[in-house]
Amino acid sequence: MNALTIVHETIKQYVREGSFCIDATAGRGYDTAFLCELVGKCGKVIAFDVQQEAVDSTKRLLDDKGLSADVILDSHANMDKYAEGNSVDCIVFNLGYLPKGDHGIFTHFESTREAIEKGLKLLKNGGLMCVSVYYGGDSGYEEKDALLPWLKTLDDEKYQVLVTTFHNWKKDPPIPIFILKN
Ligand SMILES: C[S@@+](CC[C@H](N)C(=O)[O-])C[C@H]1O[C@@H](n2cnc3c(N)ncnc32)[C@H](O)[C@@H]1O
Repeated sequence: MNALTIVHETIKQYVREGSFCIDATAGRGYDTAFLCELVGKCGKVIAFDVQQEAVDSTKRLLDDKGLSADVILDSHANMDKYAEGNSVDCIVFNLGYLPKGDHGIFTHFESTREAIEKGLKLLKNGGLMCVSVYYGGDSGYEEKDALLPWLKTLDDEKYQVLVTTFHNWKKDPPIPIFILKN
């Protein structure tokens, strides 16, 4: 059991053939490909990243696997330009920097918060948002320290926020977070 399997197993409960999903942080494309496989040919996946390298990498992985998604070079804070309200089944964020990429380019609380707020409007009732918080080494602490208290302020009549803790990890455990829209 690790952060990735916890998130992917949970996503499988919410995403079906024909679902509409957003990968808010495409990176190397592993989550985008996973979502594409779940939604099948009649579903739809949109993926965002601010780095051309991540967009190219994601498109390459999808090509290799015979999958397709709209992979967009734009900030996830603009996701409301690409999807209608109450239309999305699942939105996935993987915070941090591009694996094997530039550690100087990573997610930041302000744009992540804006994207989560917009994403929650795009989600259908009963939809799922997953936010995996990766931090440690040279980055990510500020985002984690701002994000966790802010998530406590989400309206508990509209959303359930579940924060998963690797309780006995000595150092910088990833934090998979699930936001369920009632
Ligand atoms: C931890 S990686 C994502 C890993 C990815 N899920 C995968 O399967 O490889 C985080 C990514 O978020 C991207 N990112 C940073 N700020 C962003 C923003 N405002 N909008 C979209 N992507 C952003 C980074 O460029 C980086 O590729």
